[in-house]
Amino acid sequence: MKFDNRVALITGAASGIGLGTARRFIEEGATVVAVDVNQDKLDAAAAELGEKYVPKICDITKVDNIKALIGEVGVEFGRLDTLVNNAAWAEFKNPEEVEEEGYDAQMDVLIKGPLFLVKHAAPMLRDAPNGSVVNIASAAAVMAIDKYCPYGIGKAAILKFTEDSVITVPGIRHNVILPGLIDTPILPAIYGEEATGQLKTEVPKVMPCARVGQPEDIANAVCFLASDEATYVNGCPMFVDGGMHLVNAFSLISGSQ
Ligand SMILES: NC(=O)c1ccc[n+]([C@@H]2O[C@H](COP(=O)([O-])OP(=O)(O)OC[C@H]3O[C@@H](n4cnc5c(N)ncnc54)[C@H](O)[C@@H]3O)[C@@H](O)[C@H]2O)c1
Repeated sequence: MKFDNRVALITGAASGIGLGTARRFIEEGATVVAVDVNQDKLDAAAAELGEKYVPKICDITKVDNIKALIGEVGVEFGRLDTLVNNAAWAEFKNPEEVEEEGYDAQMDVLIKGPLFLVKHAAPMLRDAPNGSVVNIASAAAVMAIDKYCPYGIGKAAILKFTEDSVITVPGIRHNVILPGLIDTPILPAIYGEEATGQLKTEVPKVMPCARVGQPEDIANAVCFLASDEATYVNGCPMFVDGGMHLVNAFSLISGSQ
C-alpha cells in the first residue's frame, strides 16, 4: 500500500473532506493523527476507523497548541510524513459588512494555523523520505464571488503561502488543492439547509462536470500529492472543482457548458 508505516497529520479530520482524507490514508496503510475541535465527531470517526485514526483535540489557531501537538507526534510516532492543512470554517461577508473580530478569527484559522503548523512540523517532515505539505484552499481563491470576502482572501493567502514555501521551507514538497463545491457539513453551516439544497441542484447545471463534488474527490487528490508517485510535483495549485473556476459569462451565454 502507498503509505505503509507512514504518519499523516490531518487537521479538521473529524468531518467532511478531512474525514474522507483520513479514511483514504488509512486504507493506504497510514496512521492518521486526526486533529479537530469537535470531540463528538472525533469519537464517532475513531469508532469507525479504529486504531490507525488517532484523534487529537487541538484548536489550530493557538500556537502553543500547535507546539504541543507536534511534540506529541514526535514522542508517539517519531516521524511525520504528511501534513494536510484542511481545518476551516467560513466567514462569508462583503467588505462593508466585515467586523474586526470575525476577520481576525477567519484569518487565524485559514492562514495563521497552517503557517505555524508548517513552521513546527518542518523538521520532522524534512526527515521523512517523501515529506510533504498539502494545503486545502478553495476555488474561491481565484474567483470573485459575492459575500466571500474574508474567506476568499484567506484562501488566496494559503495559495500564495504554499507557493512561497517551496522556496522558503526547502526539503519538503508543498502543494495546494482548490476544491469547488463539495458536499460536506460546511455547506448547511454556511448557507442553511434550504439554500444548500438549491445550490446542490442548481450549480451542477452550469458546471462542466455536472455534479457536486464529494469528499472522496479531494481525498484522492491529496493521496496522490502525498504519494511517491508525486515526488516531482512541487508548488502545484491543483483545482479539484469539476472545472467550476473556468465557468464565465461568455461560456454560459454561448451555451457551451
Ligand atoms: N465543502 C466545500 O464546498 C469546500 C469548498 C472549497 C474548500 N473547502 C475547504 O475544505 C476544507 C474542509 O472543509 P469541509 O467542507 O470538509 O468542512 P467541514 O465543516 O465538514 O470540516 C471542517 C472541520 O474543521 C474543523 N475545525 C474548524 N476550526 C478548527 C480549528 N480552529 N482547529 C481544528 N479544527 C477546526 C471543524 O470542527 C470541522 O470538523 C476547508 O479548508 C474548506 O475551506 C471546502
